Amino acid sequence: ASLTEAARLGGGGSDGSGAGWALHSRGRTLSKFAEAAACLTPRAAPERMPCRERERAEVLSALRAALVEDGSGSSLYLSGTPGTGKTATVHHALRELATEPALPAFRTIEINGMKLSSPQQVYTLLWEAISGMHASPTRAMQCLERRFCESQPKGKRKSKMATVLLLDELDYLVTRTQSVIYNLFEWATSSASGMLIIGISNTMDLPERLLPRVHSRVGIHRINFFPYAHADIAAIIGDRLTNLDAFNASGIELCARKVASVSGDVRRALEVCRLAAQLAERQALERGASPPEHVTISHIDAAARQLRGSVVARAVTELPVHQLLLLTSVLLVSSSTGRAEVDTESLSAHHRGVCLQHLCLEPLSPSELSE
Ligand SMILES: Nc1ncnc2c1ncn2[C@@H]1O[C@H](COP(=O)(O)OP(=O)(O)OP(=O)(O)O)[C@@H](O)[C@H]1O
Ligand SMILES: [Mg+2]
Repeated sequence: ASLTEAARLGGGGSDGSGAGWALHSRGRTLSKFAEAAACLTPRAAPERMPCRERERAEVLSALRAALVEDGSGSSLYLSGTPGTGKTATVHHALRELATEPALPAFRTIEINGMKLSSPQQVYTLLWEAISGMHASPTRAMQCLERRFCESQPKGKRKSKMATVLLLDELDYLVTRTQSVIYNLFEWATSSASGMLIIGISNTMDLPERLLPRVHSRVGIHRINFFPYAHADIAAIIGDRLTNLDAFNASGIELCARKVASVSGDVRRALEVCRLAAQLAERQALERGASPPEHVTISHIDAAARQLRGSVVARAVTELPVHQLLLLTSVLLVSSSTGRAEVDTESLSAHHRGVCLQHLCLEPLSPSELSE
């Protein structure tokens, strides 16, 4: 119970930030392990980001310069393998810029390509965020085109406020013709738009893989986030655990080295340490067992083993919604026919039924489905 409580308290607001770390809950003191687990919860915008000072400063100065220049005409492309702090760095920088009185006011619109049912849905979401009105992707695209590209009298544009469009997981917006990504960046280069784009993806050479007309717009200012080295990971975890004597230094070191040797993904390191703290908490609560003083190497080893076992489960839970629905449809159709093979027609019909009857979600078109 105290772990659940700790996770809830550690979660803070929607991004988990700003709550500070509660030491007490309903008059009860959390154990140091439960408290450590809460501090290690991955957060969208952590209060501090050690080992990303250079990248943060670069993002800040690029955005500051762009906002002073009215927002339009600038774009930023951030790349790096998973868990290298790209999204968190941008959130951190935007939060800081929002408090700078000398800067013109701006609004942020954040769209994650992985969460879209199709790349074209980005138009609907962007138009909704700008105008408050819903429209189909085709209609929204026309409205945006009109809004961003219609020539305005010099020095005037429809909205006084600059727009920072954060396109996370940008590679999911790449279509066969690349028209979606081209349009977005083309709008951002128009001086009437007052919009600047921050694109984020895991692929360093995404701009090079795009057609030249798109490449020239996406690859204007690029920042690559290198995987964290083991010393960085140890410093980040140490920072989260400041003032908490819950971990043995060699436990943190082992975790940092394990993760750095495979991926440099600090999210993974936080998960391992968090689970290790939960295992220590469980051990401390066991009757008859001697309670551990610290989270040790053996807790880290056990946590890493447990997390390795759930790689498939993690991959499934992180699938975009339509892929998840298709996977479920495959299983349900297969179990209803008793055959391992599932034909496209039955799959499409089942998927369509689930989308329309249960989720009010636009189903995939036949071409998207076959893709
Ligand atoms: N330097 C850091 N200091 C503190 N926490 C960090 C740091 N870098 C990353 N994190 C934390 O690690 C987690 C993953 O970071 P983030 O989401 O920014 O990674 P990402 O590079 O965007 O990964 P992905 O490519 O998977 O989206 C977040 O919870 C973030 O708070
Ligand atoms: Mg990210």
